[in-house]
Amino acid sequence: MCGIVAYIGSKQALPILVNGLRRLEYRGYDSAGVALIENRSQSTESRNPEASIQCVRAVGKIDNLSEKLKGQSFDSTFGIAHTRWATHGGVTESNAHPHSDCSGKIILAHNGIIENYRELKEKLGSSHIYKSETDSEVLAHLIEFYYRGDLRKAVLEALAQVCGTYGLVVMHGDHPSLLVSARLGSPLVIGLGEQEYFVASDATPMLAYTKKVIFLEDGEVAEVSRENLHIVNLKDQNITKQTSQIEWDEASAQKQGFDHFMLKEIFDQPTVLQDAIRGRYKTEEGTAHLAGLNMTDAEMRSIKRVILIACGTASYAAMAGKYMFERLAGIPVEVDVASEFRYRDPIIDNQTLVFGISQSGETADTLAAIKEAKRKGAFVRGIVNVVGSTIARETDGGTYIHAGPELAVASTKAFTNMTAILLLYALQFGRLNKLSVATGQRLLAALAEIPEKMKLVLAQNEKIKELANKYKNNPNFLFLGRGVNFPVALEGSLKLKEITYIHSEAVAGGEMKHGPIALLSPMFPVFAIMTKNQLYDKMRSNIEEVKARKAPIILVATEGDLGAAELAQDVIFVPPTMEVLEPLLNTLPLQLFAYHTAVALGRDVDRPRNLAKSVTVE
Ligand code: M6R
Repeated sequence: MCGIVAYIGSKQALPILVNGLRRLEYRGYDSAGVALIENRSQSTESRNPEASIQCVRAVGKIDNLSEKLKGQSFDSTFGIAHTRWATHGGVTESNAHPHSDCSGKIILAHNGIIENYRELKEKLGSSHIYKSETDSEVLAHLIEFYYRGDLRKAVLEALAQVCGTYGLVVMHGDHPSLLVSARLGSPLVIGLGEQEYFVASDATPMLAYTKKVIFLEDGEVAEVSRENLHIVNLKDQNITKQTSQIEWDEASAQKQGFDHFMLKEIFDQPTVLQDAIRGRYKTEEGTAHLAGLNMTDAEMRSIKRVILIACGTASYAAMAGKYMFERLAGIPVEVDVASEFRYRDPIIDNQTLVFGISQSGETADTLAAIKEAKRKGAFVRGIVNVVGSTIARETDGGTYIHAGPELAVASTKAFTNMTAILLLYALQFGRLNKLSVATGQRLLAALAEIPEKMKLVLAQNEKIKELANKYKNNPNFLFLGRGVNFPVALEGSLKLKEITYIHSEAVAGGEMKHGPIALLSPMFPVFAIMTKNQLYDKMRSNIEEVKARKAPIILVATEGDLGAAELAQDVIFVPPTMEVLEPLLNTLPLQLFAYHTAVALGRDVDRPRNLAKSVTVE
């Protein structure tokens, strides 16, 4: 949560910083700010800092900051910027980052939580004047306390006193060519350009300038100038780092003509699904080949239990994965919400395989849970989208889902790609166990058809938009699904509530009569998935029960199911596929329905209230 971007080089910093913030806005958007050291101060070390450092902050989204910056001109090639998701201190301009010390010379932007900020404040005493209620500002004053002319040393001494997490960028008015950044628990990527450096919470702000990056690890501190990058650990010992190449391109992080990132990302799905599965299966052997798993066949055969750990949408992909694994591989699977897993006493041994599933690779609960699983001796692997992210690096192998940048807060293409990767894992394990070549081949052939079938579902966009307009004023929704479509119902419900603020619930079809049925009325529409699979008749009976209570029904049904129209007010047809693959198609109408409802209600689709894309706090 919170996004940081910093630039030091020869280009004008402000546009790079503001555009960078727009890319990171998914990380938080209640206020934003930018601080620049103006070029005229570069030759004179002792200029009046008030004349050389410019700091502009605004409450609300980046547009508000942009508006405030209009008409102001800065000549600066060095600056830092921040977009905030409030933890300590309300949403006010004074709580917005960057923050400064008493002198106004030390300026920082921080992502994370300084847990012992009260003790630190007490230690610093009453001589320090605070201008905000944030924990982050205390860190600026702590650096001031230790500063004796060497910024890196002061930052290191200050960090030695800190309990908590940080992704941090710091500059000082007396060092107009020096940026210090540090990481513990909040991601930072350093982009290496030509005589220029970028530091940001993820690589998207630098994609237009460089693909060469260094991922800062926990406990590392980088001292960055225009010409040089020097990385040390918290004991100030030098560290040599490898550079990595980012594969995402600039275009993939843009809306490409769509009104919102969410819509663009929904429409990305046929393409990125292919990216996820390409080169990862062997048609002749009817199996998948996910080399990153990093386990021998003997180790794979020793696995008696799989635990899938995730949060939010990723946990629903995990639930779909459970059906796939159990059906194809015959291995018992548990799905654990990461925040629960980490605080119970999970029973884990060296025959347990744990997957941490995360789009961002930075979700704090998922990260803590996989660390716990590792400590207990399980095989721990990742299914992650963001390359080089913390979960990707904390696990001993795994698979990138190759969904490309997902910038809308509501996760869409990550869901389908996670589900596809889980399917490939289920197939790979299944083929080592009892699954036949023929079944494996049939599954791969059906999977290969999914991208085209997704396009057929997406072609119904206009129809789904009409449905969204028809139902947008209902204050409640119930989503129903059974079997592999129960997680689809959960995901549809989450999508709807998080971007429209309409109350919705999802229930397994068979559970409805155990309580939720009491909710139903003509004002309580039910969105149900009733595709042709082994539970079709059961689901149909559930829908009959809904119909008898006069609740309006919207169905996702299989093409050619003429009976569906008799049952429901509205039907969205999807192409037939194998049952285990159904989530890859059936989720799409629900994503579009949530999207169009949110647009019809005038919601901020890509940046819904109170949320942030990457939940890096507990
Ligand atoms: O980055 P992650 O996949 O670990 O994120 C997990 C959840 O925070 C995320 O899926 C969240 O539920 C989304 N807002 C759902 O659209």
